[in-house]
Amino acid sequence: MRCKKWRIHFVFTKFITLQKITIAVDGYSSCGKSTLAKALAQKLHYNYIDTGAMYRAVTLFATRHNLVGLHKPVEVDLLILKLDQVNLRFEINPHTHHSDIFLNDENVEPYIRSMEVSNIVSRVSAIKEVREKMVALQRQMGKGKGVVLDGRDIGTHVFPKAELKLFMTADTDVRARRRHDEYSSKGQYFSLEEIKLNLLKRDQEDINRKESPLIKADDAVVLDNSELTREEQLEFVLKLIADLHFLSKEEQSHH
Ligand code: DC
Repeated sequence: MRCKKWRIHFVFTKFITLQKITIAVDGYSSCGKSTLAKALAQKLHYNYIDTGAMYRAVTLFATRHNLVGLHKPVEVDLLILKLDQVNLRFEINPHTHHSDIFLNDENVEPYIRSMEVSNIVSRVSAIKEVREKMVALQRQMGKGKGVVLDGRDIGTHVFPKAELKLFMTADTDVRARRRHDEYSSKGQYFSLEEIKLNLLKRDQEDINRKESPLIKADDAVVLDNSELTREEQLEFVLKLIADLHFLSKEEQSHH
C-alpha cells in the first residue's frame, strides 16, 4: 500500500514539472468518467470540464420552457431560436470544492442529474446547433491546456489533438449498480432494471446519432474499469501520462 502511494507520488512529482496537456476522457454512460476526470484534475491542478453537465443544463432549459418532455418530442426549431438565452459557466463551489454548472446565473447542479433529464438529454444533445454551441464553449474553456474534459466526443471532435485520450467502458451491470448507489445516496430510488435500461438507451442514442456520435478515437487508450478501484484507475492514467512524456516523439510513434 505504502509502496503504491510512493509510486503515484513519484510519477506525479515528475509530471508536474512538465508542460500542461489536454486530457480527453470519453466513453459510455456511467462508466466513472467524471470520477476519474475529477481525480486527475485535482492531482495535476488542472481545470475540469464536465461536458455532459452542459448538455444536461441545456436539456433542463428546454424542459423548463416546455420545449421537450418525456413523451413530447423536442421542438427543435424553437429550441434553436432560444439557444442564445442559454448562458453556461462553471464555478467552484466553496463548500464542496467541486465545479458546479450555472445556467443563466442559477446553480442548476441539483437539477441536472434527475432521471427526467437523464431520459431526455440524448435527444437534446443530438441537435446539431446545440452541439455547435457547446463545442465552441468547450474549446474556449479548454484553450489554455491544463484541462481534463469528459464527454462523448472530446477526443474525436472537440480536441482531436489532445495529448492524452482515454476511452472508458465497464460492464453494464457494474455501471447500473454504481448509478443505483449514487441515486440511493441522494435519497432517490429507482430499480436497477430501470437504470440499466436508461444507460443502454442513452448509449444507443449516443452511438447512433448523426452529429459527432460516441466512438473511440483511433489513438485513444481503452480503460475498462469494471474491476478497478478508483485508485488503480488514477495510478494507471498517471503512469500513462508519465510514459507519454518521457518517450521522445520518435519513440512515441513506435509505442
Ligand atoms: O456524461 P453524462 O452522462 O452526464 O452526459 C449526459 C448526456 O450528454 C449523454 O447521454 C450524452 C450527452 N453528451 C454528449 O452528447 N456529448 C458530450 N461531450 C457529453 C455528453
